[in-house]
Amino acid sequence: MTAPLEIRVPGDKSLSHRALICAALATGRSRVRDILQSADVHSTAGVLRALRVAVPALSGDITIEARGARAMHAPSADLDCGNSGTTTRLMAGVAAGCAFRSRFIGDASLSKRPMRRVARPLIAMGARVEIESGDGLPMAIEGGALRSIAWSSETASAQIKSAILLAGVVGGVEVEVTEPSRSRDHTERMLRSLGARVDVEGTRVRLEPVGKLAPLDVRVPSDPSSAAFLIALATLLQAAPINVPNVCLNPTRTGFFDVLRAMGAAVIIEEGPDQGGEPTGAVRASHAELRAVSVNESQVPSMIDELPLLACVGARAHGATEIRGAAELRVKESDRIATVVSNLRLVGASADELPDGLVVTGSMTPLRGRVVTHGDHRIAMAFGVLGALPGNEIEIDDPGCVAVSYPAFWDDLARVTRTLAVR
Ligand code: S3P
Repeated sequence: MTAPLEIRVPGDKSLSHRALICAALATGRSRVRDILQSADVHSTAGVLRALRVAVPALSGDITIEARGARAMHAPSADLDCGNSGTTTRLMAGVAAGCAFRSRFIGDASLSKRPMRRVARPLIAMGARVEIESGDGLPMAIEGGALRSIAWSSETASAQIKSAILLAGVVGGVEVEVTEPSRSRDHTERMLRSLGARVDVEGTRVRLEPVGKLAPLDVRVPSDPSSAAFLIALATLLQAAPINVPNVCLNPTRTGFFDVLRAMGAAVIIEEGPDQGGEPTGAVRASHAELRAVSVNESQVPSMIDELPLLACVGARAHGATEIRGAAELRVKESDRIATVVSNLRLVGASADELPDGLVVTGSMTPLRGRVVTHGDHRIAMAFGVLGALPGNEIEIDDPGCVAVSYPAFWDDLARVTRTLAVR
């Protein structure tokens, strides 16, 4: 058998945001290695610096000396969250417990994304939150003393859950969050590793009042959402296998690999050590013929960011792939149901929108055209994978938008196609 091509992908985005925020809320010197250096994580670093947390320039090994939220200062300018929903919603939770006013702003895409879902629980905890118009940014938060809350969230969203948990940490109060199904649990795991008591029962999470958070010493494993693009490519290309080492294998994040396997893909997971309370391991895949699959609501949270990619993979599988129960896709960096379907059609694939998902029918006809990403990084990369397949000619209108989560994506993609072509 041909030896696999090994490609290491950058650090996990969700963990990178949380590492910076938890380091800022801790008392003492934290060390974070292998943090993702991408636009979204720079946004979180910038917001923390604006609150006068000493976050150094991001590199592979940083230390942050902090004294908790009490040491944060009122910002002298608006908090610019760029394109990052995670920065906005998690930092809104922090700001809710700080006795000053912060005003969150973002780029055109972020400004359209729903913020009342996070404002409502924070208001119930005692913060004053003002959304200037509609449901998006700008959003001003006047924080202060908070009260305990038991919140039932309508949406399975780690960002809402984390905002409430972080408000609980800063406010020193007990909080409880129940979700319709379980979203990614990185915040719970990281807070627990820093000494907080977090109890989980089914889809309910309870945080007990926190005194001080211990500093963290963490190495950020690679992002499964970034690894997913290369694993999908290995499956679709008739070439050598690809191995992605040291990937975060938190079960709330690995749904895409499971679904790919259900489609007939040869995806092998080799478990590695736990890192900072997160399971890790290598993910390897080789070429396989794929059959269509149906994804339902219960599977959506564990692969929410991979659904555009799954739709693109479905365009090369036998039969009609259906994704349902995924209305949340409409409020991501773009309306990912509309963006994926319109671009699949544009390049010559057969796809239809559903109110809460989509259907794509696979074929082997060459796909050609210029994809309109609406600045959405995951759309660019999902169609980048299709474009890397022999016979397809797909151009991306804004290739630079991958800087949000995976700045070296095009280099890694080129490395795969170049290396595998000469074997
Ligand atoms: C994230 C949670 C998810 C995901 C986003 C990152 C996080 O959003 O789509 O890319 O780090 O908490 P929701 O929690 O809104 O589903």
